[in-house]
Amino acid sequence: MSLPRAPSFRLDGRRALVAGASSGIGRACAAALGQAGAEVWLAARSRDKLDALAEEFAAEGLTAHVLPLDVADVASVEASVSAEGPFDVLVNSAGLARHSPALETTETDFDAVSDLNLKGAFFLTRAVARGLAQAGKPGSLINISSQMAHVGGIDRAVYCATKHAVEGFTKSMAIEWGPKRIRVNTICPTFVRTPLTEATFANPERVRWIEEKIKLGRVGEVEDIMGAVVYLASDASSLVTGTSLLVDGGWTAD
Ligand SMILES: NC(=O)c1ccc[n+]([C@@H]2O[C@H](COP(=O)([O-])OP(=O)(O)OC[C@H]3O[C@@H](n4cnc5c(N)ncnc54)[C@H](OP(=O)(O)O)[C@@H]3O)[C@@H](O)[C@H]2O)c1
Repeated sequence: MSLPRAPSFRLDGRRALVAGASSGIGRACAAALGQAGAEVWLAARSRDKLDALAEEFAAEGLTAHVLPLDVADVASVEASVSAEGPFDVLVNSAGLARHSPALETTETDFDAVSDLNLKGAFFLTRAVARGLAQAGKPGSLINISSQMAHVGGIDRAVYCATKHAVEGFTKSMAIEWGPKRIRVNTICPTFVRTPLTEATFANPERVRWIEEKIKLGRVGEVEDIMGAVVYLASDASSLVTGTSLLVDGGWTAD
């Protein structure tokens, strides 16, 4: 009897949309998918940064297209995804943090964070799923959620609320779309140094908090997310849906 063959982690022939591709975790995810063979659509609001990134892809012989998009604008998300899709893979890394004690949080901040992290994520995921369903194709949809989707965090009531909610719609969509072979999962990183976390890392008290909580003794690098995203996007995870992959250095272990 021959040995079982490990499933492929390659993404050749797959079309992948990465929202929030111009910076931080999304940029690394886009690179990971491109390096695994996918044709990548780079989405964010700033066209300049996307154009620069597409040039970096081309310089490495990778295929990328630029798709300027405001994920918080539901109508334009639906129009763009319908025009350019269907996409076999979605990675949504567009996200916002406006941290404050709950007693001081403004309605403006609540709405801005919710509009992107929750409402935008919901409708983007649905738009990509709709394109797949209409084409009768399977797919893998991944939201970059957070370890803060599983625990609470200092000054993070709104951020945590939106990320817990992403876990909720992920599970419900996975139930609804499983029969169509459309998988829906999240990746939940711990603290990673990006423009989003600059203010947190500039605060020595917060750095002490982070160092105490991460059991593996170091903060995340964007490269730590690259293996996770290729796994979830590829056939290597073909029976994985409705769940989250924590890349948190053990933060949530206790
Ligand atoms: N860094 C961490 O420690 C960490 C940990 C856990 C989870 N996360 C999550 O990971 C995701 C990415 O975070 P990051 O640290 O990589 O942040 P980042 O470096 O600030 O990148 C955010 C990306 O999202 C895009 N974006 C922002 N608003 C957008 C909008 N309305 N429409 C489309 N794109 C938009 C930005 O480009 P434009 O401004 O040009 O649109 C940028 O490409 C977020 O969801 C965040 O909550 C981060």
